[in-house]
Amino acid sequence: MSLLLDSARISEAETVSHWGWVGGITTNPALLAGSGLSPTETLARLASLTPGPVFYQLTARDLEGMLEEAGRAAKILGDQLVVKIMPTPAGFQAAARLSEKISCALTAVFSPAQALVAQAAGARFVIIYYHRARTLLPEAESRQLVGDCLAALSGSETHLLAASVKSPHEAIELRRAGVEYLTLPLSVLEALVPHPLSEQAAQEFQKHGAGI
Ligand code: E4P
Repeated sequence: MSLLLDSARISEAETVSHWGWVGGITTNPALLAGSGLSPTETLARLASLTPGPVFYQLTARDLEGMLEEAGRAAKILGDQLVVKIMPTPAGFQAAARLSEKISCALTAVFSPAQALVAQAAGARFVIIYYHRARTLLPEAESRQLVGDCLAALSGSETHLLAASVKSPHEAIELRRAGVEYLTLPLSVLEALVPHPLSEQAAQEFQKHGAGI
């Protein structure tokens, strides 16, 4: 199981780099556009702040353009690169071509059928947008999405990763459903930690306890 930071802000990556329990960083074109640095500089800085994977989402829409852009991303991120690809016909083709040499993630997946094709194309991850699915898909489809994607990937080496996660409650819901990888904004990662009763217990130990 792994918790990832969903951000392209260097300051946020620096914050979680001191925690030791965040396993990598996911970005997307919108996050990169708001990082304050060039995408290349941002990716290089992010890679230096995590020992884990850094996800970069391709912006090219045609197959040759995706293959070329993935090559440029690999020059920046090396083995830390997981290339995120949109689930279009050209995107699945690109994943099938790249996945032998570069870790691929099909992203913005909203159906188990897309997950099935992503696995067949050799993707390492399938990324579902959980909160968007819950709010935008018909109720029945949204309820089934996680379980059906896990079923589509069962027995394979392709992992389900949930993005668009807006609260600790949604994070726990996803873990309970069997999702192994969650990418969370800093605010949600921070919200996982505190509990008032834990704080109360800590104060009691501080007041009355003894230690070595
Ligand atoms: C992952 O990087 C996704 O792009 C992101 O989590 C989408 O979340 P949103 O639904 O808040 O845009």
